[in-house]
Amino acid sequence: MPTILVTGAGRGLGLEFARQYAGDGWQVISTVRDPAGAAELERLGVRIETLDMLDPAALAAFPERLGAPLDLFIANAGVSGPQRIETAEAAGEWQRVHAVNAVAPTLLAGALLPLVAAAQGKMVAITSRMGSIADSSGGYLAYRASKAALNAAWRALALSLAKQPVTLALLHPGWVRTDMGGPSAPLPLAESVSAMRRVIASLAPEQSGAFLDYRGDPLPW
Ligand SMILES: NC(=O)c1ccc[n+]([C@@H]2O[C@H](COP(=O)([O-])OP(=O)(O)OC[C@H]3O[C@@H](n4cnc5c(N)ncnc54)[C@H](OP(=O)(O)O)[C@@H]3O)[C@@H](O)[C@H]2O)c1
Repeated sequence: MPTILVTGAGRGLGLEFARQYAGDGWQVISTVRDPAGAAELERLGVRIETLDMLDPAALAAFPERLGAPLDLFIANAGVSGPQRIETAEAAGEWQRVHAVNAVAPTLLAGALLPLVAAAQGKMVAITSRMGSIADSSGGYLAYRASKAALNAAWRALALSLAKQPVTLALLHPGWVRTDMGGPSAPLPLAESVSAMRRVIASLAPEQSGAFLDYRGDPLPW
């Protein structure tokens, strides 16, 4: 039975990943900030670990809590942050968004490498098309910059791990109806996650470091 670790699994895309992989018989390890709010994960019967992406020491030590090979790591937890950066408070928020969206998934990927390599597994970061410098939609500067940083970091990580038995990818889930995506988002949660799971299943080692959307189409950096 393959094992998946998914971060930010209490709601939204993370919860749907946990639900779908558990439904297929995978052993699911989910992380949440507050286990008191993880009733849905408890109903699924998956393993629940507490992890705050703003705690670098906990991230670095996290693999010790697992101790077994991982077939798939999905770095999903993320925050959107302020629309504009015009106040000292917004600048502080930007740093928090950067820490959660770019630093934490990269630190965790490095720490988990031995466990993922042991299973010849895959590491997938849920990024955003908004992290593409070529994207021309504007706004959400902190979020955009954090996802661009995530893309750069994971691309570099994939290149430096080219000789290791791991495959990395950056996936844009589409504009999805979650708390972050909002009610006007066109894409239902289950549809986005099913499509990303198909892309993940078909990821080949030679694609490592790719930036793809939920249908598997390459996105411009
Ligand atoms: N929805 C979209 O349209 C869309 C589009 C492009 C990319 N994405 C990306 O997809 C991923 C999931 O987004 P979503 O739409 O499912 O968002 P969501 O519904 O807002 O869920 C965000 C998740 O991230 C967790 N999280 C936030 N800050 C955290 C922290 N400091 N430590 C640990 N966990 C933390 C949240 O946990 P709590 O419940 O504890 O807050 C929650 O589980 C994100 O990386 C997002 O950037 C989403």
